[in-house]
Amino acid sequence: MNQSLVYLNGEYMPLKDAKISVLDRGFLFGDGVYEVIPAYKGELFYFSDHVKRLQHSLQRISLEIAYDSAKWQNILTPLLDKNRNQAIYLQVTRGVAAKRDHVFPEIITPTIFAMANDIQPLDSIQAGIKAVTLDDSRWGLCDVKATTLLANVLLKQQASTQQCAEAILIKDGNAIEGAASNLFVILNNTLITPPKSSKILAGITRQIILELARANGLEVHEREITLAELQIADEIWLTSSTREIMPVIHLDGNPVAAGKVGSIWQQMNTWFQNNKTPTL
Ligand SMILES: Cc1ncc(COP(=O)(O)O)c(C=O)c1O
Repeated sequence: MNQSLVYLNGEYMPLKDAKISVLDRGFLFGDGVYEVIPAYKGELFYFSDHVKRLQHSLQRISLEIAYDSAKWQNILTPLLDKNRNQAIYLQVTRGVAAKRDHVFPEIITPTIFAMANDIQPLDSIQAGIKAVTLDDSRWGLCDVKATTLLANVLLKQQASTQQCAEAILIKDGNAIEGAASNLFVILNNTLITPPKSSKILAGITRQIILELARANGLEVHEREITLAELQIADEIWLTSSTREIMPVIHLDGNPVAAGKVGSIWQQMNTWFQNNKTPTL
């Protein structure tokens, strides 16, 4: 399908024709949630896990939508292109209210929007990225994939002004996750990632990496990572659906270990790419 076609509230249309009201609560309050789902050559990747997370986000913000996985898939399928690798963006807001009021309106129809963008090549990322540690200034519901992303935007911007591709967020002396990614470190040949909680988004890429590590006999621990451990880690990875597994080779201006992409990253990336192959 034409890349510029998008879905809005039951219809497909060119991006330029997709319009919403200024009274949409997504616009006024960031009152909505979203998903980003990779689709390789027309096949949605780990789709049921993305739907489960969307349902979790919707339930956490008390927004009821009685769509099952098949219904979501029907909505997204016309946006898929067999000749491309795409990132499918799906957003649901609480909808358009009669007036601006923080309290939920009693009757309202959610706004549902979806678009597809090409996934950018990962070669430069996979050569190793720079990251900076910053205080985690986000709210207490980080398990919700909320469109309310102002803190993440400011953190990523701060990282960008320091020529860094990501910010690693620090809270109470622990490294939590990236501004738009999950965190893994290698210490003594062991893979460590912070446990699922309301302090992190439960990434689908995180889950795939944990599955691959366990299936291949790499020792894994889901536990807190202190800032001191982050600073002496043998490898640091940041993961997300569209940027996969990013090896961090510089942290706060210092090389991570030898300042090169690590051998366990190489191994994990091979497992990850092989795991993708059936859907390519
Ligand atoms: C804050 C945050 N953590 C983690 C992730 C990674 O999630 P996933 O692997 O499902 O893309 C993202 C993705 O955008 C994110 O924004």
